[in-house]
Amino acid sequence: MSIQRQLFGTLTDGRKVYAYTLRNENGMTVKILNYGGVLAELRVPDRNGCMTDVIGGYDCLDSYVRGDGYQGALIGRWGNRIARGAFTLEGKAYSLFINNGVNHLHGGEYGFNTKLWDVTEIDGDEPSLVLHILSPDGDEGYPGNLDLTVTYQLTAQNGLSIRYVATTDQTTVLNLTNHTYFNLRGYASGSVHPLILWLDADTYLPTDDTLIPTGELRSVEGTPFDFRTPKTVGQDIGADDVDLKQAGGYDHCLNFRGGATQEPVKRGELYDPESGRVMELFTNQPCVQFYSGNFLTNKEFPFKGGYGQAPQTLLCLETQHMPDSVNHENFTNCVLKPGEVYDFFTEYRFSVK
Ligand code: GAL
Repeated sequence: MSIQRQLFGTLTDGRKVYAYTLRNENGMTVKILNYGGVLAELRVPDRNGCMTDVIGGYDCLDSYVRGDGYQGALIGRWGNRIARGAFTLEGKAYSLFINNGVNHLHGGEYGFNTKLWDVTEIDGDEPSLVLHILSPDGDEGYPGNLDLTVTYQLTAQNGLSIRYVATTDQTTVLNLTNHTYFNLRGYASGSVHPLILWLDADTYLPTDDTLIPTGELRSVEGTPFDFRTPKTVGQDIGADDVDLKQAGGYDHCLNFRGGATQEPVKRGELYDPESGRVMELFTNQPCVQFYSGNFLTNKEFPFKGGYGQAPQTLLCLETQHMPDSVNHENFTNCVLKPGEVYDFFTEYRFSVK
């Protein structure tokens, strides 16, 4: 219905960062930055029609530049971790920047969350923003010139969709996602434990103590990772379970039944009984990293309105390929070759009940 552009801040090298606010005819709005492709604000109605901002984020550019939580950002070239930043592809060894203990996380030192993206505005009943970057051969250690377009769209059905389309001129690996933190009661409303989650995932990936998958695909049956029947996020989060203890909560890849699909299908639903807000998750990606915001402790970077960070007050549902799949033959394929098109889609659709 409309797109409005406002100056959000200026990077130290003088480049301007803009905030684009997309609005649909129901009054739902999303604010997107060209810096990092960040989703900075998402206002959706509760069952009384009251709009609340349901995602984490900051008031100023400096917090997005220096803060450490990847709030709302596009993540690439690799969502989640690669063990010791090392992998071999077509017989050649690659080594990546180590930025998370002994591992590589979320694309490295200057991942896509730090890039200033080119933006094309497409207004209409279902407004969209088309973001584009060229990531050069060798960017953060990854091979191939990558041409990447990410399209955000606000639909008439209160969906926020994200489509990732990429090509390369050399064989490479790719695993893109978006790192938005949600709390359907409002980003500043407290614990996510009362939210009810359903996920169509029948296995998950146990990890070591550096959060690298061990290689096992374990059935969720009888574990705290079983969300096939909806339950509150808090129900089993404190269970005496080595995976939960190691990560300080949920921070695991859950694998959708049957893997990736051609067309997007419904794979998850988050519901807040108090506000009535529902968020359905549609995707063609094979997995979701369910992260319960365990590391939200950085007091230096309060959220919008000065609201302080606190663990497990926001959660992420990052659709993606399996973490570290470059190093596991039994994991989802993440190789992209010249002539192929990487084309993945995720939609977060909001309603009430
Ligand atoms: C998540 C990841 C967490 C943590 C977080 C950023 O995607 O699973 O372990 O690194 O990003 O703080």
